Amino acid sequence: MSNKARILITRRHLLDIESRLKNDYEIILNEDDHIMSADEIIDLSEGIEALFICVTEPLTKETIELLPDSVRCILTLSVGTDHIDLEAAKARGLAVLTTPGAVTDATAEIGMMLLLGAARLAHASSQYMREGNWSLWSPRQFIGVEITKESLGIYGMGRIGQTVARRARGFEMSIHYHNRKRLAPELEEKALYVKNVEEFLSMSQFLLLSAPSTPQTQKFINENSIKKLPHGAIIVNIGRGDLVDDNALINALESGRIAAAGLDVFNGEPSNIDPRYFNLKNVFMMPHIGSAAVGARNKMGMMLLDGFDAYRSGRDVPNRAI
Ligand code: DGY
Repeated sequence: MSNKARILITRRHLLDIESRLKNDYEIILNEDDHIMSADEIIDLSEGIEALFICVTEPLTKETIELLPDSVRCILTLSVGTDHIDLEAAKARGLAVLTTPGAVTDATAEIGMMLLLGAARLAHASSQYMREGNWSLWSPRQFIGVEITKESLGIYGMGRIGQTVARRARGFEMSIHYHNRKRLAPELEEKALYVKNVEEFLSMSQFLLLSAPSTPQTQKFINENSIKKLPHGAIIVNIGRGDLVDDNALINALESGRIAAAGLDVFNGEPSNIDPRYFNLKNVFMMPHIGSAAVGARNKMGMMLLDGFDAYRSGRDVPNRAI
């Protein structure tokens, strides 16, 4: 019997990753890329050492408890772990490996794109053209706001938040942030830490959410927090959909209390998103493509496999979440 580790791969990946998987491991590949049910994952995991999953495979307590004993490791193609019950994984002694750092630049770029796209009405103006409506240039058409020299509030100043801050400084934006705790000065790079949430919100003409989903961050954007934002503020979400209460945000976008939003992540994604978003012209939205760039996706996959190899040979695993 070969000494190669057996891995169940729940989704299709970029070619370089799949060819390493095929060469270095014994794999079960989900050829048609369907979404596997928990039962299917459990059945296929017999004799499997690692599960290579994505945010599309929620690993609940019940699923983790039913995994065969052969499973030692969960490799998730994400920096977020909210789709995995980490307590249950810990209780079973499973290692969980993620992709810290690999998604940072790509996701920060999408943050800037959403910020600019929301501020400059990218969705409405591009749709107008595609529908063949443009017959006359007009001084009053599609008037957005500039982001240059404005204030950007960043909620969640981890690697991605810090990288957005660096990019936004190129637009001469002044940066303030709210986080569980203040960063060391060298990481702050002169961004202002605002401990008080209400004060933080009141300063945020532009607000970028880049926090993970936790019980403390969920529904950070709600009816009350929206009231604290400046009138006509612009909100961008590159964290997780559940940082936002959809009803509150949609009402505020409809009334103009919030001028525009740039959204890459949604409650109920992909197929159960609040349909009212689709009709809002002031929403610039993307289907969770923060890390969808060749460099980032390859780095993510390779980081997981390097980490898994290190884990198997008893070396340090820098990307081990638990
Ligand atoms: C992440 O890395 O968590 C992204 O949301 C994509 O998986």
